[in-house]
Amino acid sequence: MNTAKTLGAAAALLCAATFAHAQPAWPAKPITWIVPFAAGGPTDAMARDIADKVGRQVGQSIVIENAAGAGGTIGAAKAAKSAPDGYTFLVGHMGYMGAAPSLYKKLAYDPVKDFDAVFRFPDTPLVLLVPKSSPYKTAAELIAAAKANPRKINFGNAGVGSTSHLIAALFESRAGIEVTSISYKGAAPAMNDLVGGQVEAMFDQSNTALPQVTGGRLNAIALTSLQPMPQQYPNVAPLADKTLPGFEAATWYGLYAPKGAPKDVVQKLHQAYLKALADKTWTARMAAQGIHMLPEAQYAPDAFAKHTAAEVEKWRKVATDAKIQID
Ligand code: MLT
Repeated sequence: MNTAKTLGAAAALLCAATFAHAQPAWPAKPITWIVPFAAGGPTDAMARDIADKVGRQVGQSIVIENAAGAGGTIGAAKAAKSAPDGYTFLVGHMGYMGAAPSLYKKLAYDPVKDFDAVFRFPDTPLVLLVPKSSPYKTAAELIAAAKANPRKINFGNAGVGSTSHLIAALFESRAGIEVTSISYKGAAPAMNDLVGGQVEAMFDQSNTALPQVTGGRLNAIALTSLQPMPQQYPNVAPLADKTLPGFEAATWYGLYAPKGAPKDVVQKLHQAYLKALADKTWTARMAAQGIHMLPEAQYAPDAFAKHTAAEVEKWRKVATDAKIQID
């Protein structure tokens, strides 16, 4: 190799070494997780719990940024446009990362093309909740009233296309009823109006439903899990028991990076999450809220990416069958 080429190669090596030296090791600053609902809802609660544990593992604080609106699609679009630098992520779920492409004709992002899956969270079944003062003691009673009074019973939800909206739409379709949906910027504000009686019913994930029920502010009248949850909701039957045989639903969640994020960062976050899950006190506390742990392999980036793609396809059929359309 002649002198000029040798010098050129040496200069390139020096630049690479300098650049590498100039890039501090990840994570060199706080990390942001975008939660596209108002604070205090089930997505926010799950995200803050997991962010705290993962942040301790990676040695950097993880800041939750609530960016609410349009059933989570506003925050998801913001995340999709963020720099793929390993410092901004999206907490996604089955609504805006699974069903949204089938519900919104114009969606500002593609859950599969615009994101890299980082790791899946545990799943959370939902609870059908009514105010303490409600006349409905079971799902069958609510369905009978809705059949007799089409579009008169109003259901709160966390936004059009949110889990609480989707599950209510599936419930309507299966039960052969029509209710009126009242949308909020998250489950938390919807729950406030449910407690106050401004709305008559709502589906909410078990992790935030349970304290409202044990605190005596709301009644649980049905579960979307196939199995009863006697520790959490004694004497509350799954919808699948008798009312709507085979009806099962749970919210899946997970962490996504804008497409092109550093692969070593994705791996470090996944490994940090698995180390956090080794804390059996923590996982027992989540299970006590009704959260379903998954087989460890399902948490992995590749498995979660496959799950997301499969869910987008699944919801094309589900939305058509249940006639759920947003815009
Ligand atoms: C939903 O999709 O209903 C969300 O989980 C609501 C929320 O987390 O606020």
